[in-house]
Amino acid sequence: MKIVKTIDELKLARSELKGTIGFVPTMGALHNGHLSLMQNAVAQNDHAIVSVFVNPTQFLVGEDLSTYPKRTQADIKICELAGVSILFMPTPEVMYSSMEPTILAPSAKAYILEGLARPGHFDGVLRVVLKLFNLTKPTRAYFGKKDAQQLYLIQNMVKSLFLDLEIVPCEIVREDDDLALSSRNVYLNAKERKEALLLCESLKVATHDIIAGERNIAAIKAEMLHTLEPLHVEYVEILNRDFDTIETIEIGNSIILVCAKVGTTRLIDNLWI
Ligand code: PAJ
Repeated sequence: MKIVKTIDELKLARSELKGTIGFVPTMGALHNGHLSLMQNAVAQNDHAIVSVFVNPTQFLVGEDLSTYPKRTQADIKICELAGVSILFMPTPEVMYSSMEPTILAPSAKAYILEGLARPGHFDGVLRVVLKLFNLTKPTRAYFGKKDAQQLYLIQNMVKSLFLDLEIVPCEIVREDDDLALSSRNVYLNAKERKEALLLCESLKVATHDIIAGERNIAAIKAEMLHTLEPLHVEYVEILNRDFDTIETIEIGNSIILVCAKVGTTRLIDNLWI
């Protein structure tokens, strides 16, 4: 595996790879969720490229940019064992200059849910992902369904800017007790770790309702909110796969999204129906 830090090093290493390329962008502190994306990229392509970059433009003032977990040596080992060909670990100075065109995510879909609490967050995500696509020139890029709105906005960018690559959505990887894996789970103490289970619990409650025949979204949301009562809920939403509001569940075209604060840690989870 080649570890590269500058644009020139990346371009050279990339030019030496022949065949199809699977790309996995990450912010590091890699866990089994990231690993599953890498395994898909390795299995479905001739080579895999991973980036580890804590992207400053997608953090708002006061968010955890400076304290975001960093585990460089472990990240390198994980990528090596996964069979990754190139690991790109740039600094912000390598990725950004002072004079750049502005990339704005479509406001109707980027300023709801995650974007409502984190205005501008998705502009920063699209900005860095577009740069990374241009550098790595992948055949396929792998994103987790865990960040469903991010996945949707990236698919939308690829489609509307006619980017020549395929976006591969990957299933959410969970702990044995069903907590969705997240780099931010390390912020949770033992008590909060238990409380965090209410997020996936609320999704299970919704699933039971739907299996029992409930299709009314207001009713399902009310049940979920009841389960989430001990937490500080930011949103519970049931939307279609284009992130439009719906009134009744459309089987095969709905996503249930939940976001709550456990202590000071903001956690998200979702379920695709
Ligand atoms: P990060 O949070 O490190 O996540 C990198 C990728 O791993 C994303 O596609 C995310 O959806 C996926 N992922 C995280 N947890 C997962 C889980 N439990 N199961 C499956 N996939 C999971 O998302 C970002 O970084 C950044 O916004 C990035 C796209 C790298 C741009 O900076």
